Amino acid sequence: MKILIVVGARPNFMKAAPIINAVREFNSIRGEWSKKISVTLVHTGQHYDAQMSDAFFADLELPKPDVFLGAGSGSHAEQTAEIIKRFEPVFQETDPDVLVVVGDVNSTLACALVAAKITPRRPVIVHVEAGLRSNDRSMPEEINRILTDQISDLLFVTESSAIRNLQKEGIPPHKIVFAGNTMIDSLRSSEQRAETSDVLQRFGLESKSYALLTLHRAANVDERGAFVEILEGLGELRTLVPIIFPVHPRTQKQIRALGLEAYFSPGESSERRGIRMIPPQGYLDFLCLMKNARLVVTDSGGIQEETTALGVPCVTLRDNTERPVTVQVGTNILGGIKCSGIQQAIRLQLTPARKSKIPDLWDGRAAARIVGTLAELFLRNDAPRQTVESGQIQQNAR
Ligand code: UD1
Repeated sequence: MKILIVVGARPNFMKAAPIINAVREFNSIRGEWSKKISVTLVHTGQHYDAQMSDAFFADLELPKPDVFLGAGSGSHAEQTAEIIKRFEPVFQETDPDVLVVVGDVNSTLACALVAAKITPRRPVIVHVEAGLRSNDRSMPEEINRILTDQISDLLFVTESSAIRNLQKEGIPPHKIVFAGNTMIDSLRSSEQRAETSDVLQRFGLESKSYALLTLHRAANVDERGAFVEILEGLGELRTLVPIIFPVHPRTQKQIRALGLEAYFSPGESSERRGIRMIPPQGYLDFLCLMKNARLVVTDSGGIQEETTALGVPCVTLRDNTERPVTVQVGTNILGGIKCSGIQQAIRLQLTPARKSKIPDLWDGRAAARIVGTLAELFLRNDAPRQTVESGQIQQNAR
């Protein structure tokens, strides 16, 4: 079985790495004589800065991509089109049995779309982290999620809300597999190594005495009014504890363009202390920063899940989440995007922690289930596409 796995942007790397490792494990368990799985790794180049990409390959021990498309940045249309154009010939040459796309970035949809229109040998299209819905179609990621799911053949989900969402959109139940969360596989397998990180010493931080902030969503940082509202919402917090802010390149540009530098100046007392910007961090250093934070404030999708897995309180700077399990059983609360709501949520999260638990199947074995399902589908069957179509796959990979 030939699998082509696509990565493109920062949050893809930790979702794909465990799948590559699980294939390695699968191949090593099977004898020399048996059928094996081969992987081609394609990096679209949606993210390309060393700190946004290379650092993650090193920390996650990802193999060097077999193909780097170098698609780069641009408007949504430009970026998506560039990936499609560059991916098609690579896809045709590789001619895989299975395409695996992860998450909800532009690379996810662009590459799924290429594969969906390939004739005559269309591959099985697998979407890992399918079915998440914010129900907010102004988010580009929501468009990517809905469309990718519609053209995928096998949809691996991370939480039960995703099963309901997919069924509402007419996806037949036999294409949906509750496998768990590969991002949490990466977290569990990296936790020990993250403990050896010197990131706290480097930035002079003490465990549980700082807040960690990330902010990059276009809706939050592209427009001055929205950005200022959030920064004002953090005003009280920054007088209580230092706020450490690894800055995404998009946000860095916006801070300059919108003239918001004053919020980030060191200040001569805790009352006047600014938010402390640091460069984007690699995977292990960031994991260490999350684990030791008293509170995480973010507009990221993945960080809502990682903080739940780590048991660290999280305030999400959005009105909605496509990951409701992090609010229902995890450590996440929605702070919204208005100053008073954010302050209220932060106050609540600074009081003694409420009880939380780890969501079902977030146990570090999601990728093994995914590869197990794919192997079963292919190695016992010569016609995997028909197998998916006729519903002969396992309904739950438990
Ligand atoms: C993308 C994803 C988003 C994900 C985020 C994680 C989409 C629609 N969005 O958003 O879901 O949460 O990645 O980071 O796919 N830039 C650099 N260097 C880089 C990459 C980006 O300087 O290596 C700058 C460029 O100015 C670029 C901007 O950041 O235009 C935005 O990058 P882009 O990939 O378009 O979107 P993200 O905001 O990173």
